[in-house]
Amino acid sequence: MCGIVGYVGSRSASPLLLEGLKRLEYRGYDSAGIAMSNGNGLETRKAKGKITMLENVMTGHPLHGSVGIAHTRWATHGQPNECNAHPQVDCTTTIAVVHNGIIENYGALRKMLKMQGHTFTSETDTEVLAHLIEAAFDGKLEDAVIDALNLVEGTYGIAVLSSKDPGKIVCARKGSPLLIGLGDGEFYVASDVAAILQHTRQVVYLDDGEMGVLTKDGYEVLDLNARRVSKGVSRIDWSLDEIEKGGFDHFMLKEIFEQPQTIENTMRGRLVVEEGFSKLGGLNLTKEELQALEQIIITACGTSWHSGLIGEMYMEELARIRTEVEYASEFRYRNPIVTDKTLCIVISQSGETADTLAAMREAKRRGAKTLGLVNVVGSTIAREDDGGIYLHAGPEIGVASTKAFTSQVIALALLTLKMGRLRNMSVVQGREVASAMLALPEQIQSILDRAPEIEAIAERFKDATNFLYLGRGYNFPVALEGALKLKEISYIHAEGYPAAEMKHGPIALIDSEMPVVFIAPHDAVFDKVVSNVQEVKARGGKVICITSQHESVLDGLIDFEIRVPQTVDMLYPILTVVPLQLLAYYIAVKRGLNVDQPRNLAKSVTVE
Ligand code: AGP
Repeated sequence: MCGIVGYVGSRSASPLLLEGLKRLEYRGYDSAGIAMSNGNGLETRKAKGKITMLENVMTGHPLHGSVGIAHTRWATHGQPNECNAHPQVDCTTTIAVVHNGIIENYGALRKMLKMQGHTFTSETDTEVLAHLIEAAFDGKLEDAVIDALNLVEGTYGIAVLSSKDPGKIVCARKGSPLLIGLGDGEFYVASDVAAILQHTRQVVYLDDGEMGVLTKDGYEVLDLNARRVSKGVSRIDWSLDEIEKGGFDHFMLKEIFEQPQTIENTMRGRLVVEEGFSKLGGLNLTKEELQALEQIIITACGTSWHSGLIGEMYMEELARIRTEVEYASEFRYRNPIVTDKTLCIVISQSGETADTLAAMREAKRRGAKTLGLVNVVGSTIAREDDGGIYLHAGPEIGVASTKAFTSQVIALALLTLKMGRLRNMSVVQGREVASAMLALPEQIQSILDRAPEIEAIAERFKDATNFLYLGRGYNFPVALEGALKLKEISYIHAEGYPAAEMKHGPIALIDSEMPVVFIAPHDAVFDKVVSNVQEVKARGGKVICITSQHESVLDGLIDFEIRVPQTVDMLYPILTVVPLQLLAYYIAVKRGLNVDQPRNLAKSVTVE
């Protein structure tokens, strides 16, 4: 995820900014850049790749001065390259902007600015900010920033520098964190306290709708009507390691807890609730092409394959289009039936998984249109697909995938709304799904708030040697995902099964030592699952039940209950998977294992 650091004071800014950027490296990024304002006007240095690349550039072409802003970019709009790296500048290179977040109406603003004669040099949404500020500039940078931000829809944490109003940094926040660091005759701005902790522990956190104006003589906080806001100063007591993980013990836990935000990011600007529809700009398929499709093939590996199974049900049940899900590793060596009326949906967090990439190439070769659901912008799959939906879940560092899964399911739901409404889904049904989607972030939060209950269950079962996960319908893939999470990080043998299939074999495993996790929300197959619970209980199994409301039929049948809020049937996986992620996490921690980097596993499997 992108990071911001800025400095204004009397020291040389370059080393401080580079050091700050390095402190932000843990967040993941694909390019970096710095802008400084000094007697020579405004200058920028940028590089694709690691911060060492930017350092190399700056060794050859140093930047001098004591006011600067810097950025690590994790691409969202446009490829990760030097041109799209921040800072972004205006037409005359007098204004530089670094930005975290997404400007949703950047397309319309870009068009308007172009008509006014502005020239764009990048593919980023951020560049419109630089031009808007340029257009509004009338001597005072903060006034121009206010004018520009009043035209913008979306989220931002920004820092801005201008050679026409030197010695000043203006920063502002809406939906993307930003803080001001207070030093002695020097001030910092950062998106993450890790960037400045070496220099100060006194910070002022900006709230949404607030702006900071920093010079070496002081700082002030204003609202977007230029009225002064009085703010308290906070003291940071965390260590650097604690900060990088946001105060969580592991990246995996941090990523699990980020899900209310990450699924909101996946939906942002895409869901049209009133019309029960979705806007997906990157599909590169016309309405007619989408309507003419005869089949969908979803291909992926691991967790992404599990989300694909949910996607298959979405597409068949709501969009009424024949859909198959294939392991990418199998698909690439079969002789699958693919026509030019086939859409191949390729799901990959990393966008680099070798089997998935090869499957996509094979589908293309056979004439299918390809659509990537990818988290990492500019990854190989994202570059080679015909169209795509970025997940916008931010970097996933823990090897066990968590937030990418929920964002993948959201992206599939968005696509289903689009396909369904173009085919035979009614506006009423579309609206029902879309409104239920909007409620999900808060619902996930309510599950996360009850993590201690799940931790207690983990304590009880941390020494188990086998686990069975059972679910039906939309929650069968969740059973697979729950079992995979447990296997990956706790090394406990776990199997996921459709609940009714259990009696065709796995039931032989059940005894009083066997924990069985049922994923049984109150959906269309709830009563069926209850019968399966009875079968397990009759054989002495220990039942952990994820459900949405307690029914008296469950009395005496289950040993532990974890409740999730109610939603429409198709969205339950986004809720029911969360307790399973937490259960796996807590069990692994209690077994003393390396949760973020489990043995034998790599985050991205780039070999066959
Ligand atoms: C998930 O926890 C795994 N680490 C793994 O199954 C992963 O989902 C799989 O390798 C696919 O990765 P991708 O989404 O990056 O393509």
